[in-house]
Parts: sequence; structure tokens; C-alpha cells
Amino acid sequence: MDDHTRGMEKLVGVVQELSRTRTLEEIQVIVRRAARELTGADGATFVLRDGDKCFYADEDAIAPLWKGMRFPMSACISGWAMLNARAAIVEDIYADDRIPVDAYRPTFVKSLAMVPIRTIDPIGAIGNYWATRRMPTENEVRLLQVLADSTSIAIENVQAQRARVAIEQQLQQSQKIEAIGRLAGGVAHDFNNILSVIISYAELVRGALPEGDPIRADVDEIWTAGKRASQLTQQLLAFSRKQSLAPRVIDLNETCGGMEKMMRRLLGADVELTLLRGVDLGTILADPGQIEQVLMNLAVNARDAMPSGGKLTIETKNVELDEAYAKTHLDVRAGPHVQLAVTDTGVGMERDVLARIFEPFFTTKEEGKGTGLGLATVFGIVKQSGGHVWVYSEPGHGTTFKIYFPRSESAAAREAARNTAEPARGDETVLVVDDDDQVRAVACAVLRRSGYVVLEASNGGEALLVSEKHGATIDLLLTDVILPRMSGREIAERVVAMRPAIKVLFMSGYSDEATRQHGVLDSRVPFVEKPITPDSLRAKVRAVLDAKR
Ligand SMILES: Nc1ncnc2c1ncn2[C@@H]1O[C@H](COP(=O)(O)OP(=O)(O)OP(=O)(O)O)[C@@H](O)[C@H]1O
Ligand SMILES: [Mg+2]
Repeated sequence: MDDHTRGMEKLVGVVQELSRTRTLEEIQVIVRRAARELTGADGATFVLRDGDKCFYADEDAIAPLWKGMRFPMSACISGWAMLNARAAIVEDIYADDRIPVDAYRPTFVKSLAMVPIRTIDPIGAIGNYWATRRMPTENEVRLLQVLADSTSIAIENVQAQRARVAIEQQLQQSQKIEAIGRLAGGVAHDFNNILSVIISYAELVRGALPEGDPIRADVDEIWTAGKRASQLTQQLLAFSRKQSLAPRVIDLNETCGGMEKMMRRLLGADVELTLLRGVDLGTILADPGQIEQVLMNLAVNARDAMPSGGKLTIETKNVELDEAYAKTHLDVRAGPHVQLAVTDTGVGMERDVLARIFEPFFTTKEEGKGTGLGLATVFGIVKQSGGHVWVYSEPGHGTTFKIYFPRSESAAAREAARNTAEPARGDETVLVVDDDDQVRAVACAVLRRSGYVVLEASNGGEALLVSEKHGATIDLLLTDVILPRMSGREIAERVVAMRPAIKVLFMSGYSDEATRQHGVLDSRVPFVEKPITPDSLRAKVRAVLDAKR
């Protein structure tokens, strides 16, 4: 058997071995051993490309060892092989100006052959070293190149396997969060209705009590507690992505800039805040109030993670997420995104904490310090805005949250946020539709006391009947979105068909159905958010009645 045949036979065995590998480490061991055996070399090296550096992943016959070191591509022979995508064959390393000879002087190496792993866009290199000066034969170089080709396939397999595992883990995590979200959202939704009633009646009672009445303070307590509870349900709704959003085209630089003062105050003097604004930053479609909340929650967490001070950096920039990224990240579509990165130099997180941070009510803070809703809210808001969150954290080294929002295509058509003035009264006629008797009763009571003529219905059928029977004008239809049988939207369509001049205002207390049917409520559709409060209701009703068509 000649050298070539012997070599090829050995190679077949190596290729089979490589096809069974599961890790990069295994590949390296097999390849380095094979490289020496195939050519009878005195040493072998395994180099991986790391950006513009050559990473000497493993390397066994040179002293001092270069294992684990990184060199610029331009400064080593493996870099040359990768940059030129072809083998470097060197009979006398001291006579070749591609070799950084000083680095080799302490080693035994006299001759070498370095072949790239993959000839299109090389990802690494395999090298053989000889202690006696000799010209590597054509056959040896060919065997090495075949070995390198098999290595490339093995590495790609390992990477594909890793991507699969990563996606699977993300999927499990996301299903868990999804389940918790459904539960939390369901509870919060019903809770919201109850809170609407508590808060509204507290306000009505308070309004009816004379100034200085001792009961007023008690009622205030009820009102305050109700408000606190409703903030909690808001957070839960945000987490379960059932919050009504008013998305607009926004510039994250503006949002961050607008928050700067507040954040500085919040962070205190010991935390240095740096804002790095991306140039020509793309716009995104999101609810600015919600994005502010995301920033606040992240800033508060960062502050808590830096009890003796540190640095908080907020950075925005345009990024292009490629297919490779999309493949390894759940729910990510390749394309132009805007990245918001929030980095602190705080205590960082252990793996087991990191795995749970987005769960509602997960907190490591002592009782009474944290509710564990901050990041759950961030998660929900970002998801609902079509983005995704990624976290990097090392215990002792700080944490980075990276949030990616898809860039919005439309030009920056920014609506000025219309500030509705003081709650005004009116004498128009309003038809109120809600299947929850208490919520409806509150809404009707508030409107009647504000001077309106109020008609009521508890479902679509009744609403249509009232609309048909009522001889005079009805100026406004105020309807819940989710109703049994006929949805708020359908009621609106049918009432408008009967009374083209009528205006419509929705009350939104989101549930699954609403999200499915309406997604994020179109910002042009007027709605009042639950829990409704007398002030918000009066203001909104007035605004809608006064709005020009
Ligand atoms: N920047 C950070 N550095 C270190 N740990 C963090 C950071 N952000 C969050 N964590 C960890 O994640 C946990 C959950 O955070 P989250 O904001 O959801 O809740 P919380 O801050 O504990 O309470 P809440 O925000 O509701 O007041 C925290 O208790 C903390 O352990
Ligand atoms: Mg928090």
C-alpha cells in the first residue's frame, strides 16, 4: 500500500469519527491527532477565526504553548491561510517573511503546512509542524485539506445542533411565560372591572361628602388602595400583553432624551448615566408611554444592582439582524431593527436567577422591596411592540439588556399628543353598553351627574333595540369591546348604520378575544381604558363629542 492509499484509509476512519462528534472540543482532539498521524508531523495546531483574530484553540507541540491566545489575522500564518483561502506551505520558516519568526524561535518548528478550514469564507485553520526541515509533500497537503473539509462539516453540524438546542430552550421558556401570562391576564382582566367599580364609587362618595367631613379621609384611603391595586393589574396586563396600546411612530433618542432628567434623579449621584444616541436612528412603532416604562423599570433595577454606585449606559443604534441570528433566536425576523441597550456595572446575576427574571412576581429583593413585576412588564411591552429582549449578565460584572424593535417603515408622522382639558360636562345623549352591571352603572352614574342624558343596554341586542326605539338624537355610543354574542365593534357598526351621525367610544378591558380581533387598538379608534375613572371617562366623552369628523 502506498502512502496515499494508507493516508486515505486513515482519513475515512477520521471522517466517521468526526461525524459522531457533539462538541467543538471533541472535534479539536480528533483533528489534531489525525493531522499528526496523517503526515507524521511533530506537532499540530487548531486555529479558529474569531472576528479579525486567529484564536489558537488548541496546539500541542510548541513550547511555550500558544493555546488560548489570539493574534491578529495579519500577524500569523494561520491568518494568512484564512485570508488567502489557501494552504501555506513553508519548507524553511526562517526564510519566509509571512512567518513572525521571533514567535517561533523558542519552538522546535522548522517547517510547516497550514490549511484553511473551508475554502470559501474560512472559519479556521489546521497546521502541521515539523522539527526537521523538510518540504511538506503534495500528498500530505492534500490529506490535510480533506481533513479540513471534513472538519468544516463537523463544525457546522455542531453549530446547527447548538442552535437547535438554544431554540428549544427558548421555546420552553416562552411557553412557560405564556402560560403564566394567560393566567395573570385573566385574573387582571376581571380584577380591573371590580376596581373600576371601587375607585369610581369612592370618587362619587367623596364628591358627595361636604368639605371637612371626617369620612372623606376614609374614602380617600379606599381610593388610594384601589389605585394601587389598579396599577398592579396594569402591570399584569402589560405582562400578559393584553394592555391597550396607543402605538405611534417614535424616535427612541427622543424618548430616552426626554427621560434623562428623571432618570438622573432616580439613579442618584453615585450612578453615572451615559446616553449614547445612535446617529440617523430609525423610528419604531410603539407606545411612547410604555417605552418610558420600560426604561424606568430597567433603570430602577440597575440602580438596585449598584448599591455603592457605578455606571449606567443607555445606547441606541440601528442594527441589521441577519438570518443566522433569526435562526438561533425565537420569534426574531431578520431585517432592520433599532437596538436599545441598557448596561449597568452592578452585581450581575447567577444563571438560575437569569432564567427566571421575566416571570411575574419573581424577585430576589427582600420582602416589601420588590414585587417582581418590573421585568415581566418590560417583557410584555416589548413583545407587544413586536420586539424582543436579550439579557447578558455575569455575576460581579454587571448586566446588559438588549431590546430590539423592528424599524418602522412609515415616515415619522408624529401626532401631537392631544391633551384633553378639564373634565367637562355635557347635555348630549349617550348610549352605554356593558354587560357588567356594576361597570355600566358606574359609567351611567358618572355621565348622568355630569349632565348627560343616558340610555343603557347590557348587550348588543338591547343596544340595537334602544337605538331603534329612541325617537331623538343619540350623540354617542359608549361600548365595551368584549361582550357576549355581539362584540363592541359589531354593535358600533350596526348602530352607526342606523344613526350615521353617532360617535363611538370604546371601553377597553383587554382579553384574549380583543387581542385576536383587534390586535393593538388602532390609535384612531377612541377608547377609554379600564379601570375607568370618572375623570377619565368625562374627559374622554367630552373629547370624542367635540372632535370633528
Ligand atoms: N440590572 C440588574 N442587575 C442584577 N439583577 C437584576 C437586574 N435587573 C433585574 N435583576 C434581578 O431580577 C429580579 C426581577 O426583576 P424585576 O424588575 O422583575 O423585579 P424587582 O426589581 O425585584 O421588583 P419590581 O421591579 O417589581 O419592584 C430582581 O429581583 C433581580 O434579582
Ligand atoms: Mg424591578
